[in-house]
Amino acid sequence: MTAPETLPASLTDPESLRERALAALTTARDRTALLTSCVEEPELTAQHSPLMSPLVWDLAHIGNQEELWLLRAVAGREAMRPEIDGLYDAFEHPRAERPSLPLLPPAEARQYAAEVRGRALDVLESTAFQGTRLTEAGFAFGMIAQHEQQHDETMLITHQLRKGPAALTAPDPAPALFTGPAEVLVPGGPFVMGTSTEPWALDNERPAHRRTVPSFFIDTTPVTNAAYQAFIEDGGYGDRRWWTPEGWDHIRAHDIEAPLFWRRDGGQWLRRRFGATEVVPPDEPVLHVCWYEADAYARWAGRRLPTEAEWEKAARHDPATDRSTRYPWGDADPTPEHANLGQRHLRPAPAGSYPAGASPLGVRQLIGDVWEWTSSDLAPYPGFVAFPYREYSEVFFGPEYKVLRGGSFAVDPVACRGTFRNWDYPIRRQIFSGFRTARDAGPGSA
Ligand code: AVJ
Ligand code: FE
Repeated sequence: MTAPETLPASLTDPESLRERALAALTTARDRTALLTSCVEEPELTAQHSPLMSPLVWDLAHIGNQEELWLLRAVAGREAMRPEIDGLYDAFEHPRAERPSLPLLPPAEARQYAAEVRGRALDVLESTAFQGTRLTEAGFAFGMIAQHEQQHDETMLITHQLRKGPAALTAPDPAPALFTGPAEVLVPGGPFVMGTSTEPWALDNERPAHRRTVPSFFIDTTPVTNAAYQAFIEDGGYGDRRWWTPEGWDHIRAHDIEAPLFWRRDGGQWLRRRFGATEVVPPDEPVLHVCWYEADAYARWAGRRLPTEAEWEKAARHDPATDRSTRYPWGDADPTPEHANLGQRHLRPAPAGSYPAGASPLGVRQLIGDVWEWTSSDLAPYPGFVAFPYREYSEVFFGPEYKVLRGGSFAVDPVACRGTFRNWDYPIRRQIFSGFRTARDAGPGSA
C-alpha cells in the first residue's frame, strides 16, 4: 500500500489535539445555541415536519450523547438523569413520535446540555490522549463534536422545513465564472480508499484498503439547476424510461415533478429557501433531490451516478504521487478558500467556485456545497469493526441506504473529509442533497 495521508502536526501531538477538541466542541455549541435561540420557544417544541424531531429533542439528545460518551464511558461517571436516557435514544422513538414524549422543556434542555458540557470540559483537560481506543488521539471528544455538528445540520434541515418568515440569515457566496471542461478523466488503476490514520475518522471510514477502479469520466462540478431544469422541461418526470421501477412508482405516488421546495410560476421556477421565496438560480448546484431523481437525471443525460469508490478516488487520489490525501486539495485542513462548509452561507456556491479546493485533476466542489448521491449501497469496508457502538453505522449496512459523499454547505469541517460517509433512504430529499454524474471511459481512453 502507498504511504498514508500526511497528517498536519496539530493532528499528531496530544496537546494540539486537545486544543482542537476544545475548539471543535465550542464551535459546535455556538452553532447549536444559534439554531435553538433564533426562534420563539413554541417553535422549539413544535414538529415542523414528521421527518424531523422537534428542535428541543435534538438539543437534549446532543447533551445526552455527550454525557453517555464523555462523562460515563470515558470518565466512568454515574448517569446524571437516568430517567431521560430512553427519551433521547434515537432507536427507541422514531422521529414522528418524539413531539408526544415528555421531553425536557427548552430551558431545562439547555441547562442539561450546559451542565454536561461543563463537566465534559473538565474531563477533556484531565484525560490522557492514549491508553484506550476511546481516548486515543482524543477520539471520543472528536466523535462527540462531530455528533453535535451532524445534529446542527439536521436542525438546519428543520429550519428549512419550517413555515414562516426567515429566522436565520447569512451572506451569499461570491459569484463564480467557470469556463473549464465539463468532465474530467480519472485514469484507471488501484487507489487507497478509507483511512487507518485520520484520528477522528468514524468506524465506517476504516480501515484503509486498496480498490481498483477502471477509467471513468466525472463531472467537473455538481449538476446545476439550469441543467436539471432542462431535464424537467424535456418531460423527464413523465418519461418512464429514465426511472428505476421503484423510483417511478415513488414519484407517481407522491406527484413529484421537481426538486423539493420548487414551485412553477408562469415561465419560471421559484424555490423557498429558509423562509424566503426566490427565483431558482441557474448556475447553482441543484439541491433537495432524492436518489431516484439523481439517478433518473443521469440516465436521461446518457450518464450514470458515480460509485462511492469512484467518488472517493476522484476526491482523494493524486495520480502524480499515487497517494490518497485527506481532501481533494491535499492534506491541509479546510479553510474558507477551499470549500463552502460550516453554514457560513445558507446555500451552495455557484458551480465552478473554489478553484483552491479543486482536486489534482481539476474536479471542483467535491467537499462542501451539496451532499452528492452515489450509486452505492452503504456497506462495510473489508476489515470493518464497529466502534464504539453498533448503532452508529453497522445497523444501517445493507441495500436500503444509498451513500452520499462530500458534505454540504451545512456541515462543519470537523464532520467532513474525503473519507467521510453519509447515507439515507433513496426517497429522501429534505436533506441538502445534490449530485454529479459520471460515465465509463472504456479501455481506449486512459
Ligand atoms: C450519518 C447523518 C445518517 O443523522 O442519522 C446522528 C448521524 N448518528 N446521530 C443521522 C447521526 C447519530 C446520522 N447520519
Ligand atoms: Fe444523534
